[in-house]
Amino acid sequence: MARDNDSMPQSYEYDVLIIGSGAAGLTVALNLPEHLRVCVVSKADISSGATLWAQGGIAAVLDATDSVENHIQDTLNAGGGLCHEDAVRFTVEHGKEAIDWLIESGVDFTRQEDNDQYHLTREGGHSHRRIIHAADATGQAVSTTLASQAAARPNIELKSGRVAVDLITNRKLSLPGNRCIGAYVLNLEDNHVELFRARFTVVATGGASKAYRYTTNPDGASGDGIAMAWRAGCRVANMEFNQFHPTCLYHPHAKSFLITEAVRGEGGVLRLPDGSRFMDRFDDRAELAPRDIVARAIDHEMKRLGADHLLLDISHKPADFIKHHFPTIYEKCLSFGIDITKSPIPVVPAAHYTCGGVISDERARTDINQLYVVGEAAFTGLHGANRMASNSLLECLVYGRAAAQDIARREADIPPAPSAPGWDESQVRDSDEDVIISHNWDELRHFMWDYVGIVRTTKRLQRAKHRVDLLSGEISEFYSNYRVTNDLIELRNLVTISDLIICSALQRKESRGLHYTLDYPGLQNEARDTVLVPTTYRTLSP
Ligand code: FAD
Ligand code: SIN
Repeated sequence: MARDNDSMPQSYEYDVLIIGSGAAGLTVALNLPEHLRVCVVSKADISSGATLWAQGGIAAVLDATDSVENHIQDTLNAGGGLCHEDAVRFTVEHGKEAIDWLIESGVDFTRQEDNDQYHLTREGGHSHRRIIHAADATGQAVSTTLASQAAARPNIELKSGRVAVDLITNRKLSLPGNRCIGAYVLNLEDNHVELFRARFTVVATGGASKAYRYTTNPDGASGDGIAMAWRAGCRVANMEFNQFHPTCLYHPHAKSFLITEAVRGEGGVLRLPDGSRFMDRFDDRAELAPRDIVARAIDHEMKRLGADHLLLDISHKPADFIKHHFPTIYEKCLSFGIDITKSPIPVVPAAHYTCGGVISDERARTDINQLYVVGEAAFTGLHGANRMASNSLLECLVYGRAAAQDIARREADIPPAPSAPGWDESQVRDSDEDVIISHNWDELRHFMWDYVGIVRTTKRLQRAKHRVDLLSGEISEFYSNYRVTNDLIELRNLVTISDLIICSALQRKESRGLHYTLDYPGLQNEARDTVLVPTTYRTLSP
């Protein structure tokens, strides 16, 4: 680390600044050459992103009866005709080496009971068992292992309690060229905005499902990186495809607890309140149909019956099997008085994953030079109109490694970042109206759930657009007058994200994958991405 001066606010200079410490950010950090000075900033603890909460596992071709072509075909099928086949092939072909790297790094995946082979589970859309996992807490195993590896590397500095506010680019500073210089970052300890300059900047900030009232995601999934990159001049694509996970635990005190799709993969069935099964009325693959189909079927049945939840039942399996495969879910449900070895689990769909994001290529480069994007914040073309289960951690690993390799290849040619001014706080004061932030935050997430959810109409989208425009005006006024806080930064970003989702949804005049609208229930002949371009900057990276 190099600190430019000791007076407040601080400024720092690194070779690589990584914003986000989930699977994506830490994979980049750990695969960079050790002579580079790397800083990883994260909002809360180093293990605070969605990665920590991943349950089911990571999809890869690891069994002799499976093949790369099978995995590619399943991904393309789940993606509703919109996956970029080159991105799918690239990801799947690099899957095994990414898993080998995780194993070498120390991740202790579950093995079969009767031999030493890794146990592979199944999830929706997968024609084969190919999900490697650590019981039902894969994310915890991945996150803690990578975090401890990163903490042990002398060239990596981990700075938690830091919220990136905006990226700094040549253009913003009226300098020639199209380069990212670093970021302004709020230090939550002293509430000052610090200047981080770097030769390379990597956005690895995760998804944006907090735009919705009900979500499986942890706090902090406010799409900060997507919004920052958009403001800096990057194109974004396919933001209308927000994935809803079919089975989130329904209980007044269970905040956002997911029931992994692997429960269905290991024989769990969905039931209506009267105990009858229904998924075979919607798809031949029944409970193992891709997620968009299962979530929509649950939503349909709940609305038809006026039910506030449906049921997921695995109690017909032996109790030892359930406790062995799903120890976390068993314990969590038991803490709410639900014994899943004896009774079904009440479930509802909830916003889960952002399929769209900042447009990037196979090296994770964006439209701005020296700016990379990796993980859920990125749009690589892998997921198309519906991400297949357990393909996202895989994407974090494969593209994280690709980004690190690209930086390693280029770093000798990239000069230090030019100087940049510190954050100007001279015109702002502390807010005395925080109620505006909490009110607007609630309002936004309510109308996004009601108007931009699993089933959409043009009228609902237009209403949502009208409201998001009003909020946008209020928040930008607030932002200009008051000192930034974490809540204000997240709300500002969520308003931008919601606008991007609504504008993308309004442009799609068809129902495809996760975007289902009653006004256009059919498919257009040609499958096209929805690409939004910031009006001011349109330059592509070389
Ligand atoms: P995250 O892990 O979300 O990390 C984001 C990081 O960015 C965090 O460190 C955060 O603090 C930081 N950050 C965000 N904004 C800022 C900012 N402004 N300034 C500084 N830091 C910032 N996928 C699978 O493939 N398999 C699964 O089994 C699976 N299960 C899941 C279960 C749950 C409950 C959830 C929510 C998701 C699941 N997913 C699963 C999806 C997968 O976990 C995520 O897509 C993936 O972990 C995203 O990794 P990431 O590194 O991109 O982001
Ligand atoms: C799950 O375990 O059901 C989540 C898997 C995923 O989101 O990929």
